[in-house]
This record gives sequence, structure tokens and C-alpha cells, in this order.
Amino acid sequence: MKKIIVTGCNGQLGRAVNLFFKENQDISFVNTDVGELDITNIDKVMELAREVQPYAIINCAAHTGVDACETEYDKAFKINAIGPRNLSIAARETGAKLMHISTDYVFDGKGTRPYVETDATNPQGAYGSTKLAGEEFVKDFAGRYFILRTAWLYGDGKNFAKTMLRLSESNDKVRVVGDQFGSPTSASELTKAINALLFTENYGLFHATCEGSCSWAEFAGEVFRLAGKSTAVEAITTEEFGAPAPRPAYSILENRMFKLTTDFMFADWHEAIAEYMKTL
Ligand SMILES: NC(=O)c1ccc[n+]([C@@H]2O[C@H](COP(=O)([O-])OP(=O)(O)OC[C@H]3O[C@@H](n4cnc5c(N)ncnc54)[C@H](OP(=O)(O)O)[C@@H]3O)[C@@H](O)[C@H]2O)c1
Repeated sequence: MKKIIVTGCNGQLGRAVNLFFKENQDISFVNTDVGELDITNIDKVMELAREVQPYAIINCAAHTGVDACETEYDKAFKINAIGPRNLSIAARETGAKLMHISTDYVFDGKGTRPYVETDATNPQGAYGSTKLAGEEFVKDFAGRYFILRTAWLYGDGKNFAKTMLRLSESNDKVRVVGDQFGSPTSASELTKAINALLFTENYGLFHATCEGSCSWAEFAGEVFRLAGKSTAVEAITTEEFGAPAPRPAYSILENRMFKLTTDFMFADWHEAIAEYMKTL
């Protein structure tokens, strides 16, 4: 029986990971969220890892509030950087593998072709810079790690698709950013990718997003189409939307390491959102 510690188990990814491995008799999960294990507390992290002696730690915990990170930099740094550092130290000491999740926001979004794992990073905001610091700590401290950079993640929790459906209840038209491009990725597809790596020795940094890409406005249009809604989408600019934190305009990631080192293929984003909509 392989024991796996999951952090941030109540988040979108934490829930998807639990659902995916529910039937697997060879795995026993030690599920934790901030109440059971605050990943920013090194003593608690070490204590649990020493007690459990896990096969792996899957870090689903993060401060994902992109705008809030700007005004809560220290809190974001603790959760997004010091947390993964603590988990890395614990993983190394106990011989566990570490599965850590990062983001497209490590890039500046000025690219003109999909980013590959070896491209230079240049985060524009607090969320991206704290997540990048987390990646660096994992590389420094964990021995056997997987870092998966994903993007535009949605699953069981508060997400873009649900926000659009809620807005459509009281609006005939919604205004959605049309000049940011990325790859919407379901937590369920990301979990399949985690499964494809976790039991291997294929360590390192991986881009991990659904295939294909779109703008947020196109993504909203597809959500409405699948839900049978006639709500119109008006594409607006990032400037018009006016969010507090900067966001990369172009954040399409190429899953190059997955393609070159595994047989795993991510679903196209259209298929993944169609699957997700069936669960609502
Ligand atoms: N969501 C996206 O669009 C997106 C895009 C790219 C990458 N990612 C990355 O994907 C991963 C999973 O994201 P997600 O959307 O599943 O996140 P999420 O839904 O925000 O879940 C994160 C979980 O971590 C918990 N948490 C916060 N601080 C903690 C702490 N100190 N110790 C332990 N748990 C703590 C949160 O609890 P509270 O809710 O109580 O704070 C929450 O349950 C993250 O690494 C994220 O950076 C997400």
C-alpha cells in the first residue's frame, strides 16, 4: 500500500485527485487542507511526513487569488514558495516523491509561440513570482520531484465556467476579456497527467495543459454553447476589464516534456470542458 499525503485537499485539484484515485486499492491517501496541515509550518510538515513515511506528497495547496496576492505578498510567498520548500525538505528526508503544481503565470505573456519548459521565465505579478520562487525551492530541496505547470484550471470549486453560468442567469450579454490567450485545463485532465508521472522515475519540469487554445471570451462562448444558453459574449480588452493584477496576454504552453518522455496525451480543451459540464 502506497501512502500519499495530499495537501490542499479541499481545492479544485485536491478534489479531482481524490475522485480519480478513489477506487485504487493500492493507494491510501492522507488528506490534509490548511486546518490539518498548514504547509507554511515546517515543524508540522516534518512531523506528519515522519509519521506517515509517504510514498509521495501531492501538493494541491496554493494561494490562487491572483489579485489578492498583490496586496498579500508575504502571505502568498509563504503559501506558494515556503510551503513547497517545506514539503520538499520533508520529501527529501523521508524519501518521498514530490508532485508540485505551478502555473503559466511564471511567463510574461509576451511570447509569440507556445512556451516550452526551457523558455526563460519572467513573472509579471505577485502570484507568478511567488509560484516561481516555489518552483526554485522544489528544485533546490526536493530530490525526486515533478513540477507541473498548468493554466486556466477549473474543477469542483469556484471557477470561470461557473462564474459565466451565474452571470448568464441575470444578463443577456456578458463582457469577457478577448485579448488573453491560454489553454483551459480541467482538474480531471491534470489528475490523469499526475497519474501518468507519479509512479515513474520520469522526474523534472513539465508543462501540463489541455491541447488547443482560446481567449477567455471564446471559452465563455463554448461554456454557453454547451449549456444551451443564448447569452451573448462581448469581447473586451484587458485594459477595459481593469483587473488589479497583471495577467499574461499570451500564456499558451507546449506540453513538450510530456510528449517527448511519456505516452500521455492531454485532451483538447473543448473535450475537457464538455466532460466537465456534464458534472454540473
Ligand atoms: N486555478 C487556476 O486557474 C490555476 C492556474 C494555474 C495553476 N494553478 C495551480 O494549480 C494548483 C491547484 O490549484 P486549485 O485551483 O486547485 O487551487 P484552489 O482551488 O485555490 O485550492 C487550494 C487549496 O489550498 C488550500 N490552502 C491555502 N493555504 C494553505 C496552507 N497554508 N496550507 C494548506 N492548504 C492551504 C486552500 O484553502 P483555502 O481555500 O481555505 O485558502 C484550498 O483548499 C495550485 O498550485 C495553483 O497555483 C491553478
